[in-house]
Amino acid sequence: MQDIWIIDFGSQYTQLITRKSRELGYSSLIMTFDDCAEKLKAGEKPLAFILSGGPQSIFEDDTDYNIIFDQKLPLLGICYGMQIMSEKLGGKVERGVQGEYGHALVQTQGSSELSHLPGSFNVWMSHFDHVVTPPTDFEVILKSGNGLIAGIENKALKMMGLQFHPEVNHTDHGSEILEHFFKDIANLKQNWSDEVMLEQCRSEVAAVKGSKVLCAFSGGVDSLVAATIAEKELGEDLYCFFVDNGLLRPQDYHHIEVLQKETPLNIEFIDAKDLFYSKLKGVSDPEKKRKAIGTTFIEVFEQKVHQFEKEKDIKFDYLLQGTLYPDVIESISPHKKGGKSVTIKSHHNVGGLPERMKLQLLEPLKFLFKDEVRVLGEALGLQYDWVHRHPFPGPGIGVRVLGEVSESAVKKVQKSDQILFEELHAQSLYQASWQAFTVLLPVKTVGVKGDARAYEEVICLRIVNSTDGMTATWTDLPASFLGKVSSRIVNEVEGVTRVVYDITSKPPGTIEWE
Ligand code: XMP
Repeated sequence: MQDIWIIDFGSQYTQLITRKSRELGYSSLIMTFDDCAEKLKAGEKPLAFILSGGPQSIFEDDTDYNIIFDQKLPLLGICYGMQIMSEKLGGKVERGVQGEYGHALVQTQGSSELSHLPGSFNVWMSHFDHVVTPPTDFEVILKSGNGLIAGIENKALKMMGLQFHPEVNHTDHGSEILEHFFKDIANLKQNWSDEVMLEQCRSEVAAVKGSKVLCAFSGGVDSLVAATIAEKELGEDLYCFFVDNGLLRPQDYHHIEVLQKETPLNIEFIDAKDLFYSKLKGVSDPEKKRKAIGTTFIEVFEQKVHQFEKEKDIKFDYLLQGTLYPDVIESISPHKKGGKSVTIKSHHNVGGLPERMKLQLLEPLKFLFKDEVRVLGEALGLQYDWVHRHPFPGPGIGVRVLGEVSESAVKKVQKSDQILFEELHAQSLYQASWQAFTVLLPVKTVGVKGDARAYEEVICLRIVNSTDGMTATWTDLPASFLGKVSSRIVNEVEGVTRVVYDITSKPPGTIEWE
């Protein structure tokens, strides 16, 4: 299928362009300019280009973008992308003396279809340089309140430029403006829908029919949806291995039991609790804990697979993973290539497995966002609760017991987490947050339990709203709810005298405490 190619110049909103275009029914992919140039040289072509915004100035960029303009394909330039387009086509860009960031009013101008929008509306600006003279034959369609050019178009060339971000929700009529580009300027036909999405994933799996496929199964939304698609295509050639690292919540054990009973998935339960605890003994540094959990996972998994292959006399060819598009994009981000990205926390789930075990990767969801995967899951007939579960990190409670992990500390988190989970459901608040969990803080505080003085630990409630985990805000839940959870935890969880609520956003705080 042909797509719109979104060339990522490093704007923090690039992912949103893809999401918005798909919501409007147009399939799009994100790539760096280098990857785009390589594909074009290899003869591939998109339906249209979108040049994203970016933090740099065109006055410091001497990249030759001719290869894009030589294609004579529809093109939308957003912010930095508009400046590249304008300069290339003979317009004039001026260095800004003062940047313009945040809300701004724009007014419609000229004869564009956008003139049916209200005379002036709010948009989200983020730029320093700006276009002062549009390229020849481009019509100015939007101007900002202070007289700057905010939008230009040329229908004959099928090109449009916007000095603001139509993809962010802060921009009024953003979807209509994007749709105007897709429909009126680029004359594209809609090519993305839930059915197309499912078909793409199915065909990815169908291509390996006849092979033995192994899935590192966590029971989370992504691995469940990936495994369900794969099972429908591969039947008994799909094997799901679930590793119990002893760092799971009661709801996770229950969920796996339910899936074993209620789905056709062939789930092998591997109890490796003792090994994980022994490897975590004496380790209190968060990164070292993550590494210990990650390498132990690989060790257990690899050993179990070899044993299984021997016993059943089979050989696995593929490792099925529920990798999502944000993971793929992160690894192609221009920031990453430029070496600017920093590892805040290492994510160790199945990293390293495929190379060691000489398995090829099968990642049918790798072009999808989480909400699309949820839609797919429902379309596949999976229960609503299963596909709307909160995310749960691979290292599990290991990073929710601060400092050294012990079985008794894990129990405190398990019990408190179960209380939080029960109350969220009882008060129909589970879906009001994106992720909710408890953390055991290694501090003791004084309390009174019964008539006696208690000197015990603290449980922190972490409940956040987010769309992709990249940024998050704390969830403003009713005080009565928080009070009930707190009172149940101090009464029911042994060794805990105090409950606190974390009201830190991400950034600067991360969602997990370690
Ligand atoms: P942070 O703590 O980095 O987390 O703000 C963002 C999201 O990622 C989850 N997370 C992980 N998920 N393996 C995972 O699969 C990991 O090692 C890991 N670390 C954090 C976290 O729960 C949140 O949803």
